[in-house]
Amino acid sequence: MSIQVNQLASWHALQQHQQQLANTSIPALFAQDKQRFEHFSVEACGLLLDYSRNRATQETLDLLLVLANECQLSDWIKRLYQGEAVNHTEHRPALHIALRNRSNTPIQVAGQDVMPEVNAVLQRIGQFVQAVHNGDWLGHSGKPIQSVVNIGIGGSDLGPVMVTRALRAYRQGGLRSYFVSNVDSSHLMETLAEVDPETTLFIIASKTFSTQETMLNANSARQWLLEHYQGDEQAIARHFVAVSTSTERVRAFGIDTNNMFEFWDWVGGRFSLWSAIGLPVALAIGMEQFEQLLGGAHAMDEHFRTAPLAENIPVLLGLLSVWYTNFWGANTHAILPYDFVLEHLPAYLQQLKMESLGKRVNRQGEVVTYATCPIIWGAAGNNGQHAFYQLLHQGTHLVPADFIVAAQSQHPLGDHQPATLSNALAQTLALSQGRDTAATQAMLQAQGVSAEEIAQQLPHRTFIGNQPSNTLVYERLTPALLGALIAMYEHKVFVQSVCWDLNPFDQWGVELGKQVANSLLPALMGTGEAPADSDSSTLALLKRFAK
Ligand code: F6P
Repeated sequence: MSIQVNQLASWHALQQHQQQLANTSIPALFAQDKQRFEHFSVEACGLLLDYSRNRATQETLDLLLVLANECQLSDWIKRLYQGEAVNHTEHRPALHIALRNRSNTPIQVAGQDVMPEVNAVLQRIGQFVQAVHNGDWLGHSGKPIQSVVNIGIGGSDLGPVMVTRALRAYRQGGLRSYFVSNVDSSHLMETLAEVDPETTLFIIASKTFSTQETMLNANSARQWLLEHYQGDEQAIARHFVAVSTSTERVRAFGIDTNNMFEFWDWVGGRFSLWSAIGLPVALAIGMEQFEQLLGGAHAMDEHFRTAPLAENIPVLLGLLSVWYTNFWGANTHAILPYDFVLEHLPAYLQQLKMESLGKRVNRQGEVVTYATCPIIWGAAGNNGQHAFYQLLHQGTHLVPADFIVAAQSQHPLGDHQPATLSNALAQTLALSQGRDTAATQAMLQAQGVSAEEIAQQLPHRTFIGNQPSNTLVYERLTPALLGALIAMYEHKVFVQSVCWDLNPFDQWGVELGKQVANSLLPALMGTGEAPADSDSSTLALLKRFAK
């Protein structure tokens, strides 16, 4: 048995420290330190992190940094950047940083610099984007492409969906973007109803090129196209391109490998946005702006690699998450963007964080004796206010949250932005300050409410406050800023993984469901029996579906 992180001296010190701090509220911390904002905020890569609204003092941060050192965080960062096989269960490095390495310094995998390959694929993407935008790349009947349908799921979908939506204001080339991920045919059928086969380009995006959902959707899309072209297989080459690590499977599917954009097994699915998986993004916003996205991520990579841990944004965010998860019992974390274009960020971060950190054994394969990844959820700020913020304000759960706030909207209009900002600022303040009984009573008295009514209403109208939050502020969401924001969260995940002694780069937990689904398929297709060990619920429901 190795030493688990909760046996480290710093862990015990943090437990004791939490007990000392348990009765100190966030407003009390603000009262004690008039310059709390200055002391608990940091800026890098166009992002300001205000972490003053946390149940934390300087001593908390010092102790968390001791924990980071005891877990050898700086060494792990070096190993990540040097291309060591940090994904030890799959014997691979995790080199998403190479995909956006704008400095071009060599990065070695198995003794070979990967940068020439990375740059070559980027160049091919650039040429392809230009050909589609210029109308040099034509559909089979000679018409220019107008719609791009990306078929992929998980990491081959969520990043491109989120970024393409977020950067709608930066669109170039006039293409319409669609994304099909779900195996339920409604997703594909509803999309195909909106596009014209003669002007549509399908991108089949799959690292493995074997994912059930993607392959079924790709086959059905191919069928749909061939039906339009009366079975003329030559149409495929003009309407289908592939993004994958598997040349053989792409060829077997029938896509010309000249129309394939490669990436590599050292790119994890949920970290693959920066690879050719970003092709739909590059087609939507143009190559130059796609490269700005990469540039923003690279700037954050450099910040993470070089900034002292105490001033390092991903490190601070990761350590604060450990603080709440393991010392305050928080089992959830909310993502609340006050920039509507980031409406898909919570879903993207669900995969990034929960597929990476939703694990119960440490790197040595031992069951951990402490909590790991909190449940990630959220929605665009104001919408959330009218849905679930009631629970944040008066529920029983501790919910640390990230408020992500743009100073400027991408589509300025009248008083909308001051209204958005007032809501963001109000929520962080109200969540931490609350409103105690005395203040609530005074308010109701001032409103002329009767004493009897006040006595009845008081418990329902008070707010205990003390809900912690981080506020991340930027000027305006540019491609570069978005790149930095995403890379910040990727590195936060890495920091958490080091503190929890987890491998964040594998995802064995998604295997079992896939296997069981495959075993049930014959019974649903009428080509076989249900597995003998199926329970009565599965058998009864299979029977019902068969009807
Ligand atoms: O959900 C499991 C997973 O393997 C993800 O990690 C990945 O992003 C997704 O499936 C899609 O995989 P692929 O790109 O190989 O189709």
